[in-house]
Amino acid sequence: MNRRSFITALGAVVTQRQLRRWRDEYGEFGLEDPVLGLATPAVTTTRYPYVQNLRSDRISVLWAALESGTGIVEYSSDGINFNGVTARSRTFTAAETGMAKDFVQYQANITGLQPGTDYLYRVSVNGLEVTPGGDMRFRTAGPGPFNFIVLGDSGYASPEQYAIAQKILAEKPALVIHTGDLVYNPGGAPGTNIDLYQRNYFNYYYQTMSSVPFFPTIGNHDYGPTAAPYMAVHALPTENVPPGDRHKYYSFDWSNVHFISLDGHESLERAVTAGGPMLQWLENDLRSTRQFWRIVYLHYPPFAAGPNMNDYHSAFVRDKLVPIFENYGVQIVLTGHEHSYQRSRPIRKSAFVSSDVGTNYISSGGGGAFLYPVYPLPVVAFGQGRADNAFHYLHAEVRETRITFRAIRYDGIEIDTYTVAPRPAFSDDPTVSPVVMTPGPTAGATVRILGRALAAEETFACTPVPPTEMGGTTVTVNGNPIQLLYVSDSQIYAQLPFSVDGNVTIRVTTANGSSEMSF
Ligand SMILES: [Fe+2]
Ligand SMILES: [Fe+2]
Repeated sequence: MNRRSFITALGAVVTQRQLRRWRDEYGEFGLEDPVLGLATPAVTTTRYPYVQNLRSDRISVLWAALESGTGIVEYSSDGINFNGVTARSRTFTAAETGMAKDFVQYQANITGLQPGTDYLYRVSVNGLEVTPGGDMRFRTAGPGPFNFIVLGDSGYASPEQYAIAQKILAEKPALVIHTGDLVYNPGGAPGTNIDLYQRNYFNYYYQTMSSVPFFPTIGNHDYGPTAAPYMAVHALPTENVPPGDRHKYYSFDWSNVHFISLDGHESLERAVTAGGPMLQWLENDLRSTRQFWRIVYLHYPPFAAGPNMNDYHSAFVRDKLVPIFENYGVQIVLTGHEHSYQRSRPIRKSAFVSSDVGTNYISSGGGGAFLYPVYPLPVVAFGQGRADNAFHYLHAEVRETRITFRAIRYDGIEIDTYTVAPRPAFSDDPTVSPVVMTPGPTAGATVRILGRALAAEETFACTPVPPTEMGGTTVTVNGNPIQLLYVSDSQIYAQLPFSVDGNVTIRVTTANGSSEMSF
């Protein structure tokens, strides 16, 4: 339904022209109107409804209006039976936001949703429709393939920001990752306020945001000196985050990806210099995930070549965060801050390695703010020989054990394509044995394998005779398939149905390839 049509209180769809005619007949407010009921718009919406923290089972819907009252979000998976949730509200004064008038921000938190499911929703204040354009929709996170968008350093009110916003709308991604610097104060002065977020963020992306969650990270321009406006307008995951740091960093799952958003600015500085909790939180978080993909995003790139490459905070990222990323097999790190497109060669332990075993650093800071030059240093892989200091965004396709990134310029030209599809690998941690057979290489023994990229998703055998293929993974011993009890990204438990004498060769195979080990 387009923005020129309306849903009446009785559920009928009418056009703006019909509405005008009925209003002429029944009066402007239509309160006695048998057809329109209370559907005549009389709420002054100052920020259209937008979805936040959309997950497999929950969502938050936020909006802002001049009027205070009872905000309700109704939602339905079948378009017939609607549930309603009452929003909480908070009044912001013009003095604190920089906006012309006081306004009320509403937030409804909905739980108990089904994964991978389409929902309709509608929003009202005091019974009056907030968006008379008709029902809006969202789709919860669920298993299987999905696409996401990455952009950064966008909020400058440039024509290129607008062009990219329109492209993102057309992409219909499952979610959007923003790598920070959501807004800039004109002239580069420090400090933000909600008015800036309204003008340079919501006003550009509101059509996408009505159905697609933005999961941002804080950039230096989002501080000024606190990140209070950034945190006030977002509702982000909070699980396991220390209460004082909530909304500054967080993690969540979407299909088989574990996404982690870090605050590379204040929380990182506080963790390094004053014992703040973010580094410990990150280690705990990475240790506990069982997802195949670990994607971290934060504002400052540790490996990028441009005027900001040696910033104070970038050095913290290199020294303190990179070793943690490598320890826990983070495959992809997305950043901004350099206003350009930059993709590093895969790196592990300060060496250039294959994308199978290295961490791939992609910096996307060309979302709309003025561009910086890219320095031709060896750390940067230049995509297809094209100039990379371009306004652009990234389109990412997640297909089980393969992710393909495409960097798309604001005019639609593709400037780089990059696929990460790590082959299974046995653990190279010298303190553990990558393969253990208990009690030994005899029939009935349990085989435990430790490594990375061993299976697309965590799967348990649930049949009386365990299968030899699970989660897309097979294991052979001296060429013979063995029965799998459990597979995940980092561990396999299997059963040896026969005895083995002499040399033992174990081979693990996934859709991405195979690795073998003899002992
Ligand atoms: Fe920036
Ligand atoms: Fe920045």
